[in-house]
Amino acid sequence: MPDRILAIDQGTTSSRAILFDSALKPVAAGQQEFRQFFPHSGWVEHDPEEIWSTTAAMCRSALERGGAAPGDVAAIGITNQRETTIVWNRKTGRAVHNAIVWQDRRTAALCARLKGDGHEAMVTAKTGLLLDPYFSGTKLGWVLENVEGARAAAEAGELLFGTVDTYLIWRLTGGRVHATDATNAARTMLYNIREGRWDDDLLKLLNIPAGMLPEVKDSAGDFGETRPDLFGRAIPIRGVAGDQQAATVGQACFMPGMMKSTYGTGCFALLNTGAEAVASSNRLLTTIAYQLDGEPTYALEGSIFIAGAVVQWLRDGLKMIREAGETQTLAMRADPDQRLYMVPAFTGLGAPWWAPDVRGAIFGITRNTGPAEFARAALESVAFQTQDLLEAMKGDWSADGDTVLRVDGGMTASDWTMQALADQLGAPVDRPVVTETTALGAAYLAGLRAGLCPAPEEFAKDWALERRFEPQMDVAERAARYAGWRDAVGRLLD
Ligand code: G3P
Repeated sequence: MPDRILAIDQGTTSSRAILFDSALKPVAAGQQEFRQFFPHSGWVEHDPEEIWSTTAAMCRSALERGGAAPGDVAAIGITNQRETTIVWNRKTGRAVHNAIVWQDRRTAALCARLKGDGHEAMVTAKTGLLLDPYFSGTKLGWVLENVEGARAAAEAGELLFGTVDTYLIWRLTGGRVHATDATNAARTMLYNIREGRWDDDLLKLLNIPAGMLPEVKDSAGDFGETRPDLFGRAIPIRGVAGDQQAATVGQACFMPGMMKSTYGTGCFALLNTGAEAVASSNRLLTTIAYQLDGEPTYALEGSIFIAGAVVQWLRDGLKMIREAGETQTLAMRADPDQRLYMVPAFTGLGAPWWAPDVRGAIFGITRNTGPAEFARAALESVAFQTQDLLEAMKGDWSADGDTVLRVDGGMTASDWTMQALADQLGAPVDRPVVTETTALGAAYLAGLRAGLCPAPEEFAKDWALERRFEPQMDVAERAARYAGWRDAVGRLLD
């Protein structure tokens, strides 16, 4: 009996595959980075062929390292960088343009125009999103307008659109399945999250032919089988969710009021709001956390574009550190009397500001400022940005009891950063034993559909705390620091 589950985690900077055993313990993994293209200021692209080739190679590598024969794998679960937009030819399988990555701001002017024409309220009511270049819809529109022959080919039914999950499913199944799940559909700005369907008004607004769009399924569903020649045998694909939603599942945030925050390239906090799609009054997003048996569970989401990427910038841009782990050591040495505020708006600001044209800044530099103060300001920017999200969430959702944040992602390995986060939020921060929650969530969804994993309530019992970081900073200090941060952001927004 096959009882292993292979999770694909196709992220912004690398493709990963993790093999899980039947108890959802990771057995083996493979990870490969791929190229990032920055053709103009604020533009970010990936090569879809590299997305595919690195993903397929990592699947083979995880299977090999885990000593698994293809017949041992009961199901594949896919989780992915969200919103990233790919358009390809249904006959040749060739993409007509590079993938336009979620961080890409090329449609800022179009979004501003649509906003100016008064369309934002309608877009938000239907999709839970805001008119920002972050989402797929305007990126897809850009491809149709700017790639020669694309519009005519799309209208003739020759082109398909997909987020990365859809593209991978298409490639894995040899072009037999063109599908996505509700969580990924919810990020396109074309999907009505309340009615559970592609929305004609939105398609008309952005001039998108409906025939390009994938079929939308549950997050634990039947997404076909892989081509038998890929891994030596056909493997069923049974789970799909956007990476932040998969992390919400992996963190077992199944009850309304539970919240997780993932620190990868960016930081994304999701608060489960249950069967109710709560409309935000504080410029957060309303999104689908997961969909099981046709029933969506909704979430409020705060999206920050730069979190871990600020550490990458210290390493690759400023060359202040050689590896990410050095940031914490440096930060601990920073002069406590210097107050630096770094606003890492490298690709604009996300929630709750939504300012695509703003760029980053550092305030408070003196003659004594050095790498240690930069490192501390970089790590603290992550805490301040999370606080922005939590303040906004408090305005949208009245919690019974205290807020607890479950965290995961690469940055959570830093105790210093997690303590700074708890201090700044004035709330406990819980780090689980398993911090591979994104892949775990995808594996769980696939295992649930394949009949290997228990219902969510049972799965939630296995969530285990590794360490709780309790806030230690006094209230006045926390408020003063936060006021300094808001002042810094305010100066950029003016
Ligand atoms: O919305 C973008 C998000 O899905 C990207 O996640 O982990 O690749 O930064 P990550």
